[in-house]
Amino acid sequence: MHAPLNVWKWIESNRESFSPPIGNKLMYKNTLSLMFVGGPNRRTDYHIDESSEFFFQLQGNMELLIIERGERRLVSIRQGEVFLLPSRIPHSPQRPESGSMGFVLERARTIPDEYDCMRWYRDFNSCDDVEFEKFFHCTDLGKDLAPIAQAYAEFKKGGASIDGQKDGVTEDSVRPIEDNKESVVPDPFNIWGWIAKHADEFATGKSINLFGDDHPDNEFKIFLSSRIEEVIDAEKCEVMVWQLRGEADMKNGEIVYHLDDGACIVIPEGSSSTLNRDTTSSLTMIIHCDRLGNKT
Ligand SMILES: [Fe+2]
Repeated sequence: MHAPLNVWKWIESNRESFSPPIGNKLMYKNTLSLMFVGGPNRRTDYHIDESSEFFFQLQGNMELLIIERGERRLVSIRQGEVFLLPSRIPHSPQRPESGSMGFVLERARTIPDEYDCMRWYRDFNSCDDVEFEKFFHCTDLGKDLAPIAQAYAEFKKGGASIDGQKDGVTEDSVRPIEDNKESVVPDPFNIWGWIAKHADEFATGKSINLFGDDHPDNEFKIFLSSRIEEVIDAEKCEVMVWQLRGEADMKNGEIVYHLDDGACIVIPEGSSSTLNRDTTSSLTMIIHCDRLGNKT
């Protein structure tokens, strides 16, 4: 288990990674992907993956293009807003603002069963026809995408076959990952406004589901908690803990980790931790990442 890292200090000490041409950096590897992404960055590809994706826009604004039930939709995620995208919805993040900073959480893929897809449509504005797509095993979000963008560039140059494909598109019957064509995804909302709305409940030491029980995603269960003592069960799935306000202590086995304001830590699968705080003004975001949550 990694020691906690403070999000704000970590961003400052990695500033050079968030400008073009790199633009992003993973805080942790080999476990959940805790990715921080800067702007400006525009892209023309869509990503489809088995993991849900949690977006938290920390500084500036971004836009997320998604294909929702076959229709292209532009989701604006403004500073301070959170958005939860269920598995297998094609999406293309656009970060036009220089100096913007967003957080994106994904879970590790189950290899070899789960595939990711990168896809380009013939017309970026309508997204009717697929021009090119490639399926791959995603083990490192920081490294896996560049070779596929390169394959697309070569395809555009010569129209040559890629790995035996006649063209850039794969038949539905042999696709290793299918688009989610059912889910209607709720709009982003401002997390600080949401916290203010629940201030009375948090003052009495409560844990509240950030996206409510009706959200179509069942992988990521995200709670905000001000409970004086809380047992975090990570027996069956990894859990990310982010201290949003004030301080807390987290005990895992015999080790006590102090979480300062902005601290972030991942509890590995197969253990439990206990969170303690002195006051209900301390607030923690707790994200349970159940890899089977969206599997039927
Ligand atoms: Fe993605």
